[in-house]
Amino acid sequence: MRPRILFGRFLIRFGRFIQSLAVVVMRPNDLVEFSRQTYAREKMVEDCGRQDLAYPILHPDEQALLARLHLTGGRLLLLGVGGGREAIPLTQMGFAVTGVDFVPALVEKAKENAGRHGVKMEGLVQEISKIDVPAEAYDVAWLSAAMYSCVPTRGRRVEMLQRIGKALKPGGYFICQFRWATKDGPAHLWELVRKVVAFFTLGNLWYEKGDTLSNNIEFIHAFSQEDEVKSEFAEGGFEVIHLRIAEEILIGGTVLRKTPSDSPLSA
Ligand SMILES: C[S@@+](CC[C@H](N)C(=O)[O-])C[C@H]1O[C@@H](n2cnc3c(N)ncnc32)[C@H](O)[C@@H]1O
Repeated sequence: MRPRILFGRFLIRFGRFIQSLAVVVMRPNDLVEFSRQTYAREKMVEDCGRQDLAYPILHPDEQALLARLHLTGGRLLLLGVGGGREAIPLTQMGFAVTGVDFVPALVEKAKENAGRHGVKMEGLVQEISKIDVPAEAYDVAWLSAAMYSCVPTRGRRVEMLQRIGKALKPGGYFICQFRWATKDGPAHLWELVRKVVAFFTLGNLWYEKGDTLSNNIEFIHAFSQEDEVKSEFAEGGFEVIHLRIAEEILIGGTVLRKTPSDSPLSA
């Protein structure tokens, strides 16, 4: 290949690598705030608020997970409600939905959109990894659109699971989707450089393989090992009832059940 083309390609790859360092110079709290600021932009609120809302529907993978519960009612805690795409059909099915989002304008949009479709939902402005709601109040928790992956660090995801578990009634269910990655991620050398940059900038010292800023919009941790995600669920107090990885859309979906407190599996 011609040297100038080779040099051009090198600069493109190097540019991408430099961009990818954004995820390691921010600490976990910064990464959550980075995502919040993106979603709070006027254009994002407008897009998320409008998205699919002429005919809000659950996606087929979400419907398949819900069908496993054989439930058509109860209190449902929906994390990351956005413009209400899932909240509206779930309310129409008979669930009493509380929708949570860290962008106040989106919580308002979701309630407004629910009203336009003739249903009512409750809204809460909170950050989902620090969710704080009354104990044992919900039958189901819902975190779709791969949003389990939007929480940085294993420790923070486990804390979120524990908080969700506390909000669920005994035996309550959690429908949860996460981002999946193909096995071949960045080479070891690049991973090492990322860790070194995190160290010298005192940034994301908890950086894990699979952490990225998806489309420079929000933090995402993509899992590539079933055991990795299963062990988080177990540590967070949930047993896996069903798990399916849809390689074609790079999303994993699970139905989890709160581990009874007298179970040897509970922490
Ligand atoms: C990709 S949208 C999905 C919205 C909706 N669940 C859907 O599928 O249409 C992500 C939503 O979750 C919210 N969100 C992202 N991270 C969050 C966090 N850590 N805490 C609370 N809300 C969050 C965003 O503000 C946005 O409304």
